[in-house]
Amino acid sequence: MPESQATVDGFKRAAAERAVALITDGMTVGLGSGTTAEFALAALATRIAGGLRMSGVPTSERTAGLARQHGIPLMPFDGRPIDVAIDGADEIERDTLNLIKGGGGSLVREKLIARASRRFIVIADERKLVDRLGVHGPLPVALLPFTRQLVLRELAALGAPGTIRQADGRDVVTDDGLIIADCICGAITDARVLATRIAAIPGVVDSGLLLGLVAEAIVAGRTGVRVLSPGK
Ligand code: A5P
Repeated sequence: MPESQATVDGFKRAAAERAVALITDGMTVGLGSGTTAEFALAALATRIAGGLRMSGVPTSERTAGLARQHGIPLMPFDGRPIDVAIDGADEIERDTLNLIKGGGGSLVREKLIARASRRFIVIADERKLVDRLGVHGPLPVALLPFTRQLVLRELAALGAPGTIRQADGRDVVTDDGLIIADCICGAITDARVLATRIAAIPGVVDSGLLLGLVAEAIVAGRTGVRVLSPGK
């Protein structure tokens, strides 16, 4: 039987709180986007009210706005190393902890901040764990709007046909002025090869494949909160 929304929210909150407990005074913290990452913002706000000093680097304008509402001090992304980044994911591959991200459209900034962080922690409820990436949902690919026809043709030729994400009959445009192709890949057998081929398409800015970046996955479910490391 599927879990109720309240139960799933409880799992997301538990994973987020476990990750935020790892933040110590003076750290810079990458602030993820999406519903799970938003529980981390609330948990950080509670810790800041209790005296924690930290600076957040947001992965989206929405996260920046919510962080300000929570009273979380922000700093711009300047390419320097970030101590810890905490973010959600659409799919987490069980053995590798490779990810698909971008369900919320912020994948370009999310990947940049994950790459810049010394320790990238992904937080999720256990429904996000998969044996192979690509099985649950589409793979988002961010692209320059004027290249859409070329990119869609090339993605289809790679066996990853995509459709441009829309809301209310209009293209969804990201914080960086990009549009998103949601691609149906099926189970991805070689994520590295696929990521490289997609990145080589002219007009593609990035894909939602995050490979080899996760230090640990904090996953919550009926049996409690588990901390997973890649390869375990
Ligand atoms: C945002 O672009 C995404 O990468 C999110 O991190 C991902 O979609 C997970 O979102 P939820 O925590 O809302 O499921």
